[in-house]
Amino acid sequence: MLSTPELNTAAEAISRARLVAVSSGAGISKESGIPTFREAQTGLWARYDPEQLATPSAFSRNPDLVWAWYMFRRDLVAQSQPNPGHHALVEMEARVSKLVVLTQNVDGLHRIAGSTDVVELHGNLRRFKCSGDCRGSPTIIDLDTIEHDQEHAPACPHCGALIRPDVVWYGEMLPPGALERAFDIAKQCDVMLVVGTSGVVQPAASLPVEARHAGATVIEVNPMPSQIAPVVDIFLQGPAGQVLPLLIDALQAFRNRSLGA
Ligand code: OAD
Repeated sequence: MLSTPELNTAAEAISRARLVAVSSGAGISKESGIPTFREAQTGLWARYDPEQLATPSAFSRNPDLVWAWYMFRRDLVAQSQPNPGHHALVEMEARVSKLVVLTQNVDGLHRIAGSTDVVELHGNLRRFKCSGDCRGSPTIIDLDTIEHDQEHAPACPHCGALIRPDVVWYGEMLPPGALERAFDIAKQCDVMLVVGTSGVVQPAASLPVEARHAGATVIEVNPMPSQIAPVVDIFLQGPAGQVLPLLIDALQAFRNRSLGA
């Protein structure tokens, strides 16, 4: 259960931080109606096989199946809106010296909510590229400018290779600039707030470990402790859409106390 002293301790650490890093995963978007991956029953990977849908070899074997799956997810994301958890992080950014969001999510909701510094570690489901990277890596294709449907992967207008979503699949490297920046931020931050990730997918799962080793306070927001529990200093139990707004209230209360003191 979430307690007020824990919220206050977390708020104090955040208030004093020069750099706050937020490491987010699928859980923060659950209250926007986007399913997570690994939760029993409701998680995408409980119902679908990532080997068949989220690897380069799956795309070579059956591009239309992979395309249709990403079109389905893209439509889901297009209909969704940021929730109070995303909005609370925007509010937090306004209240601290500097805040950077390092996200594994591909839904773009942090930026849509208004977070200004977002590192997308696994790409973005709303963006597409040539699978052959014919004009450099990545060769972004604006899907609105080419004919396409929901069932068939379309061809790149420059080279004819198939177009794919600009997301990271299993077995692929993360975007190099994003990965380096995320680890730099993890080493420099005073607080790492980890929200809604199971902490099992590398290298993102190493960010809180890196931050903790460099001396940061690690705060986790999740309805259940995750794999990162061994490096967590403060665990705030509950859904992000409820806990993060309470954390903003606690930040305000800390500020009021500091001003009054
Ligand atoms: P997971 O599905 O592995 O974990 C989701 C986490 O969110 C779990 O720890 C849940 O307990 C927690 N959770 C559920 N509801 C929540 C809520 N309302 N508020 C806060 N937390 C909540 O998702 P990720 O850790 O993000 O990669 O998965 C990592 C990567 O695995 C994804 O980026 C994706 C996937 O395969 C790629 O596609 C490359």
